[in-house]
Amino acid sequence: MHVVRAAERRRGGVGQGVLTDTRFADAGLTRSGGALHLGGAALTAIAEQVGTPVYVYNAAAIRERYRSLESALGALPHRICYAVKANSTLAVLRILRDLGAGADIVSAGEMARVLAAGFAPERIVFSGVGKATAELRQAVRARLGHLNVESVEELHRLAAIADEERIDVAVGIRVNPDVTTDTHPYISTGRSGIKFGVPVDQVLDAAAFIAGHPRLRLTTIAMHLGSQLSDTEPFRQGIGHLLELAERLRATGSHAIRVVDIGGGLGIRYADERSMDPATFAEAVVPLLAPTGYTVYLEPGRFLVGSAGVLVTEVLYRKHSGGKEFVVVDAGMNDLVRPSHYQAYHEIVELEEGARPALRVDVVGPVCETGDFLALDRTLPDVGAGDRLAVLGAGAYGFVMASNYNTRPRPAEVVVDGGRWWVARPRERVEQLFHDERMSP
Ligand code: LLP
Repeated sequence: MHVVRAAERRRGGVGQGVLTDTRFADAGLTRSGGALHLGGAALTAIAEQVGTPVYVYNAAAIRERYRSLESALGALPHRICYAVKANSTLAVLRILRDLGAGADIVSAGEMARVLAAGFAPERIVFSGVGKATAELRQAVRARLGHLNVESVEELHRLAAIADEERIDVAVGIRVNPDVTTDTHPYISTGRSGIKFGVPVDQVLDAAAFIAGHPRLRLTTIAMHLGSQLSDTEPFRQGIGHLLELAERLRATGSHAIRVVDIGGGLGIRYADERSMDPATFAEAVVPLLAPTGYTVYLEPGRFLVGSAGVLVTEVLYRKHSGGKEFVVVDAGMNDLVRPSHYQAYHEIVELEEGARPALRVDVVGPVCETGDFLALDRTLPDVGAGDRLAVLGAGAYGFVMASNYNTRPRPAEVVVDGGRWWVARPRERVEQLFHDERMSP
């Protein structure tokens, strides 16, 4: 086996990319006799047995990412709380739990999943701008590590629940530090004027309310700036704001803040953008945080699982229309929405390398929308019906954002570990999709 070498530049309408060794290595992708392997398992064999489209994740790659971040943070007292929203499949959660990760969740559904995967409640952080009363109540009863509140009104609701339940609650205030990040506007979350976090000028009052409430304790000051960040500067700025606030709160003498939660957002390499290197990240943030004595929480999602997954799809048809070449595949925007929704670039490679000429094509799915594509104006080998392709960097925000649009069952998910693999979640069946519906009263 050799690591894939293909440094040809892909000039595409939807971003540009250089297929680098590094990106393949991050995933644990290799070629053997032209056949693409993930974590040592032949993807063609998986596709033949499980069918397509299928998500495949490499456990070893997830572990490697986790450990790289752990070792970069070194002696800094910290906890990595995996942002479950990136990929909440139980087998993936179990890999991260076994590594010692905590979990960052945003719904009662995610809470149920992480508890099912064996995370201890005190290692769970509950974030989210719109937690329903029932969700807050469940979280209080489960005695989670802490709840990050995102508004004063949510804080009042939580206080009422803590009273009713007669349970003490550890609270974090997720601050909106008004820091600008260089990412897609849909996933930039730390600016003023967007829905996330408590504005800085409301934090002291919110903290005073907590101090005055017998059931609430302020343990954490938190932020989350955005996703797919490649620059450390916003982290430095945001941490500066958090530490300043934490000091002001400490000076009041009414709070015992132990944790500074700096959120997630560490970016990965999809095309030729810079990814967040753990060592560079640590160099930027550790000197700010180490002298403070706080325990630092991080909430990475994509960084841990993004590169570790691929979506395998089969070519259904080739088509020539309006001067363009189309490759129609069996995975659509319902299976992987990132290209349509964020104009995100995902590298696409053949499962079985053939000596085929290169062409400019749109890779499109079966869904009834023009916006249903995986790649536009991409240079790909001249593949045809029955050939299979791997869409790379699909481990984060892939399956979790899949829908049943067009009554399409969501794909199967496979985990590869040490060359062996298993179906971690079977393909949905059509009957499951309307099983609970009623045609009449
Ligand atoms: N913590 C909080 C409070 C978050 O809202 C998020 C992501 C994370 C942590 C993890 O961010 P990460 O480390 O994965 O960047 N669907 C989008 C990404 C949405 C991210 C939402 N929040 C995408 O496909 O790019």
